[in-house]
Amino acid sequence: MPRRPDKLKLNALLYGTGSHVVGWRHPQAAPNGNRDFAHYRRMAQTAERGKLDALFIADVVATQGSHIDSLRRSARADTFEPLTLLAALAAVTERIGLIATATTTYNAPYHIARKFASLDHLSGGRAGWNLVTSVVPDEAANFGADTHLAHAQRYARADEFREVVAGLWDSWEDDAFIEDKAAGLHFDHEKLHVLNHQGTHFRVRGPLNVARSPQGHPVLVQAGSSEAGRELAARCAEVIFTAQHRLEDARAFYSDVKARLARYGRQPDHLKILPGVMPIVGASEADARDKLRELQALIDPVLGLRLLADNAGDFDLSGYPLDGPLPDLPPSNRSKSRQQGIVDLARRENLTIRQLYERFASAGVVTGTPKTIADRFEEWFETYGADGFNVAFAWAPGGLDDFVELVVPELQRRGLFRTEYEGPTLRDQLGLPRPAFVRRPSTVRGDVTGPVSAEAP
Ligand SMILES: Cc1cc2nc3c(=O)[nH]c(=O)nc-3n(C[C@H](O)[C@H](O)[C@H](O)COP(=O)(O)O)c2cc1C
Repeated sequence: MPRRPDKLKLNALLYGTGSHVVGWRHPQAAPNGNRDFAHYRRMAQTAERGKLDALFIADVVATQGSHIDSLRRSARADTFEPLTLLAALAAVTERIGLIATATTTYNAPYHIARKFASLDHLSGGRAGWNLVTSVVPDEAANFGADTHLAHAQRYARADEFREVVAGLWDSWEDDAFIEDKAAGLHFDHEKLHVLNHQGTHFRVRGPLNVARSPQGHPVLVQAGSSEAGRELAARCAEVIFTAQHRLEDARAFYSDVKARLARYGRQPDHLKILPGVMPIVGASEADARDKLRELQALIDPVLGLRLLADNAGDFDLSGYPLDGPLPDLPPSNRSKSRQQGIVDLARRENLTIRQLYERFASAGVVTGTPKTIADRFEEWFETYGADGFNVAFAWAPGGLDDFVELVVPELQRRGLFRTEYEGPTLRDQLGLPRPAFVRRPSTVRGDVTGPVSAEAP
């Protein structure tokens, strides 16, 4: 097999109690992991010992679910706010990247530009922003809305949001702060640029009250895979987090997204495609499968049925035998195509209700030995299904420990993964260029609040 010139990119997707819905019940899991900083610190340092590219914190701005009988059986009701958590982890790590999720639907661009620029400074250039537009219905209710904006509107807002943020990150040229004690001047006002953005969704004057950050712009990560999501990624994302379970689908996604970059004057390797994966490592294949089986057995049916209902329309299957077939379902008022997909899967593979929800709970799980998991990573990488992976851990910290102690050395031995960090910044690890300062056409110069003189575009 021809060897690619680059190396795998690997992020650790950290969730305190683990990413499997009942990971928190695993004998080696920290059940209070979502609110235990010492536990997060240990995980961050383990991931850094493994030379992983970044810590990745997914997020929704609500409890994950509002059906109390299932919510109380999951560990999805409490979690740290990602930027706050990563700011604390920045102080106890040296090199690993720090990627936080933040939604464009329930934030203002100035806040986001400021917080991520601050994290980039605090961490010496290790910040990344996972831009999401929000999908979980419960989030809307926390922000005075009954439902999210429609999909197209969310993306239109996201696009303008991202432009404003980028413009704010270029409020100051890199060498604007001269700090000249003798002259009594802290910055060179010629190198201050006021954005004065007036758009469809936002009016933002600027400038940002944070200097241009070590990476110029924190790394932009994106996780949408619809047509609009792919276009947004092609236009501006530097990492895309995607859910792909079959190599042929991953390769199709990979080539589709990479092919879109040329239209925006971008090089294909300036966008890293990282599918999610949740490895469960065993001493043998059977051992790894047993570990998964033991975990799945901890799923209370109340939780399992809710997982199904959330994915396939809000129906109640509690009256049906769990080890019997899926009954015919009433029409869904959520996504008809997703409901049909689930019915098709159940019929095609003759799955019981229990097997069906177990399938959802284990989406992304790959069981195997360090060798077979490395084989899979290698095949996906070498055949251009992925540039690397966002690696989740079914339970924590055990799943992460196994990955770093057993799988990473195997990948390193094969020359597929680094043995030392490439430099101080997340862009260094990912092989991404540092964006040069861009003087925007809308920029005006002069007093921030007083009269302004227009600059030549
Ligand atoms: C692998 C993956 C991870 C995601 N993680 C988050 C997340 O942490 N928070 C969030 O609000 N949305 C998350 N999303 C949702 C996406 O950001 C996006 O809003 C959603 O997929 C709808 O966009 P699409 O229609 O373009 O796919 C994730 C999506 C994918 C595929």
